Amino acid sequence: MNQTCTVKKYTFGTPFPTHAVVREVPAETGEVQELLVKGEGRVLQLLLDAEDIVFGLGEQVRGLNKRGWKYISNNTDESNHAEGKHSLYGSHNFLLVDGIEKIGLFVDTPGRVTFDIGYSMSEQMRIEVEDPDYDLYVITGPSSDAVVRCFRGLIGRSYIPPRWAFGYGQSRWSYETADEVREVVREHRERGIPLDMVYLDIDYMDQYEDFTVDETKFPDFAGFVQEMKEQHVHLVPIIDAGVKKAEGTYPVYDEGMEKGYFCKDESGKPYEVAVWPGRSYLPDFFREDVRTWFGDQYRSLLDLGIDGFWNDMNEPAIFYSDRRLKETFEKIGEFQKQNLDVHSFFEFLDTITGLFNSPEDYKALWHDTEVGRVCHDKVHNLYGALMTRAASEGFRRAEPEKRVLMFSRSSYIGSHRDAGIWQGDNKSWWSHLKLSVQMTASLNMCGFLYTGADAGGFADDVSPDLLLRWLGFAIFTPLLRNHSMRGTRRQEIWRMVRTEECKQILSLRYAFLPYIYSEYMKAAFADDMLFKPLAFAYPEDHRARHVEDQLLFGEGLMLAPVVEQNAWGRYVYLPEDMKLLRMRSAQDYDEEILEKGDHWVPAMEHEVLVFIRPDRLVPFGSGSAMYVDEVSETGLSVLGYVKTKASYELYTDDGVRRVERLEDGELSRFESFR
Ligand code: GLC
Repeated sequence: MNQTCTVKKYTFGTPFPTHAVVREVPAETGEVQELLVKGEGRVLQLLLDAEDIVFGLGEQVRGLNKRGWKYISNNTDESNHAEGKHSLYGSHNFLLVDGIEKIGLFVDTPGRVTFDIGYSMSEQMRIEVEDPDYDLYVITGPSSDAVVRCFRGLIGRSYIPPRWAFGYGQSRWSYETADEVREVVREHRERGIPLDMVYLDIDYMDQYEDFTVDETKFPDFAGFVQEMKEQHVHLVPIIDAGVKKAEGTYPVYDEGMEKGYFCKDESGKPYEVAVWPGRSYLPDFFREDVRTWFGDQYRSLLDLGIDGFWNDMNEPAIFYSDRRLKETFEKIGEFQKQNLDVHSFFEFLDTITGLFNSPEDYKALWHDTEVGRVCHDKVHNLYGALMTRAASEGFRRAEPEKRVLMFSRSSYIGSHRDAGIWQGDNKSWWSHLKLSVQMTASLNMCGFLYTGADAGGFADDVSPDLLLRWLGFAIFTPLLRNHSMRGTRRQEIWRMVRTEECKQILSLRYAFLPYIYSEYMKAAFADDMLFKPLAFAYPEDHRARHVEDQLLFGEGLMLAPVVEQNAWGRYVYLPEDMKLLRMRSAQDYDEEILEKGDHWVPAMEHEVLVFIRPDRLVPFGSGSAMYVDEVSETGLSVLGYVKTKASYELYTDDGVRRVERLEDGELSRFESFR
């Protein structure tokens, strides 16, 4: 906790307990002093100076600087991450106004919040909180860095995955059979492409029933998990929020129904929805007993040797509800009798598409919460977070000593303690590579350190150059997974035409792994960010403050990914002299000291640009490892740019035991003098 910051909490009405904040902060009485509060306290306004940058909001569209758009916290299964959108899968209501003063704002409410950041009026930020009951935290401090750390201190330590989860993972919707997975592993191993994880998407399940395995496609699953482990590959299955309706044949459904564990309608009847398996029910994760029950279900797979999961469709995504489907069919009957014209034709289309993730369904669902019955609509943004909490608590009971990999699609601040998140259903678009660069740093501010986008892009067809460039950035994100949607071009590295170059880029991940792991752990325990906008380190440098596509990565590096098609390099702004490494593999790179200022830096598609800051050292391995457990922390070489003297503290541990503080691992220090 940084002592130089001031935290003030303002409580409006009786807020719903989100448990996002873990530190007790006494509430102020009287008016919010830092802001001009209008209306009934649901509207907060702040004047922005032309120079102010507004950082934050975690998983959202657009750039690092959020000015100029309207963002709405409303967790949405949004498969089109276009700049005209307002909401994605998570709600991360933390903003940092970085101007002469540094102000952090956290609007703690599970309902909708609209952040109009210079969208209606350029010089004004207007925050509208839908629910009049909420907590507002206002943090002021001497620097952006201090304010973010202070905020992070309030919300508690970030999730720490097992070390193997820093390896490369290959995914596809879906690898349908054990033999298909074997083929994936064989192709990687035979061609010397590193691999630590293969992800199992929905088709591993028996009829899309959570916590089951289709025995015809994956016979002797426990044996198969073991066989993969022997090849140093962890299988990571998906778990969806919806539980299939299957009376008498699916014990999870039967028990959930019998014990009344599913979300109900206003009259108390379980509310039927549909997701992948068709008719399903949503567990009421707002109830502690339901969380315990659901969290304990993961055991069935843990017992088979599984040690990692991804939680999905937990906004929650709803294809349709029984109730609204009936209404829709009736309406369609009416349309059938009409001449569908300019109005009615589009109304007809909307009637059908409107079934999907309908706000009407969110209004019809009810939860039994720790403070009584609450309509889902009021607490919508917490649902995914509570599913993940259920899993995380289940892991603690099942594996008290061991770290389990978990990342989720939907989240709220607080989930960062339980899991990571992936950045959802992006597309194989250059703009989405850039979005991932910006989103990763924004998520770090909100505590989500274990994050990454689907490398190569999930939907649409990837091109070999995009995959190369994408890997050039993704090798630095803690979660490194190549995932793609069914029906799209196959995206596995070995199936692409530039396999060898992709493989060389991946070798860099394994060479940097001791640094990445060390920096991750240090960031987690210091409530720090792993990826930072340049503004955080060079606040006085006007140019640096506004750079949107370069990030500091840990204490020693700056990254400048190429995010444009057919570019032979890029302009890079250096706020101080740095050493450029133009890397083709862990063995093959050239170095050059570049002076502070602007540079055109050539970078072919198979080259990754890495900059070392002055007087910093970076431990570096051989890059020959085929999986994380093969990465040795002894015999490392050191990359560095030493002007006078530099030192580095390397963190190591066994990679699986749960750790609560930095001292639970080992720190070894090395130094270098010029
Ligand atoms: C959702 C997930 C995606 C997954 C698909 C099938 O769209 O976001 O990652 O592949 O569902 O499970």
